[in-house]
Amino acid sequence: MFRVLALRLRGRLTLGMRVSGRHFRSIWLDESSGVLRIIDQTRLPHAFELRTLPDLPAVVEAIRTMRVRGAPLIGAAAAHGLALALAVDPSDASLAQARRELQATRPTAVNLRWAIDRVSRVVAHLDPGLRGARAQREAEDICDEDVAVCQKIGEHGLRIIRELSSRRGGEPVRILTHCNAGWLATVDWGTALAPIYKAHADGLPVHVWVDETRPRNQGASLTAFELREAGVPHTVIVDNAGGHLMQRGLVDAVLVGSDRTTATGDVCNKIGTYLKALAATDNGVPFYVALPISTIDWEIEDGLRQIPIEERSADEVAEVEGLRCDGRLERVRILTSSTDVANPAFDVTPARHVTAFITERGCFSPGRSEMERFRPGERPD
Ligand code: MRU
Repeated sequence: MFRVLALRLRGRLTLGMRVSGRHFRSIWLDESSGVLRIIDQTRLPHAFELRTLPDLPAVVEAIRTMRVRGAPLIGAAAAHGLALALAVDPSDASLAQARRELQATRPTAVNLRWAIDRVSRVVAHLDPGLRGARAQREAEDICDEDVAVCQKIGEHGLRIIRELSSRRGGEPVRILTHCNAGWLATVDWGTALAPIYKAHADGLPVHVWVDETRPRNQGASLTAFELREAGVPHTVIVDNAGGHLMQRGLVDAVLVGSDRTTATGDVCNKIGTYLKALAATDNGVPFYVALPISTIDWEIEDGLRQIPIEERSADEVAEVEGLRCDGRLERVRILTSSTDVANPAFDVTPARHVTAFITERGCFSPGRSEMERFRPGERPD
């Protein structure tokens, strides 16, 4: 109770990320109407549109179509989805059905299951009449805690950037990132981008190489948008450029997020992450993974065999969306309709390529025994 209160207070006191100077979270309950609101990420960077999610079907649709995406945000949205379902029908059958529908939206990010289980646990033993309100409180706690967790990740990661900065003699630290692991992928601050925002705020010069991240371009559309709003120097590169930059000595560290990490440290993240890890290993560039502890799936050890990899629609590869010169958004096909397409959305980077994990509980190296020390319930030394 006190912990949640303290986290809430901390979330209020330390304002996070801004768009045109105004603070936004990626998901929130509207203060006057109480309705659930999100930033529609499918419209960025060309349009900044807010959207209301009035019920469970709207939340399911928003997660599936990636209006909200990123492992921690998917979890936060699912928690709210469960609360909305229970507000309409608090029966056991409704809870089970909402769980199934939410779980089916996106299979890879483990935060989805984590958040659904957490909300279910607190309402399961309650009188049905109390379930809706209790679920909503838990969803809000999940959001507030995510903000505090990401801030902590930022602080721990800042120490690493500070160290890189002193090795660079104060020249900008050049960090390569993949996909979007910023505030749009969480509730605020982000995971991989949080240390970068903290470093920038502390006056440490940083420069970010932003992988465009085909096919959905989360790097080009979302990470570049975030960094621009925050005033962090950055350059968008095609996904294939990272290895070349590392060979030229232009990357001081790779810093990515994760959708699910095994208890031994295999990292599942956006497709293409593995290739960056290989190039980093080959070039002696440190490869850091920033993640909340809730992204660790303690039940599995072998990422290659045990993590379900989401296969998304062929259209994401066959079509691209952009802004026409007249300012209208347009989708065009870049492949013939008879071309075969495969679209695995994530890959697994084996633990041996990971230099360190940056979490809210501190930084540690991969490997079961080291990671276990940071497991909830354990007390890191
Ligand atoms: O398919 P997405 O956009 O949901 O994938 C997001 C990522 O892979 C992120 O890197 C990951 O969720 C970490 S987010 C803090």
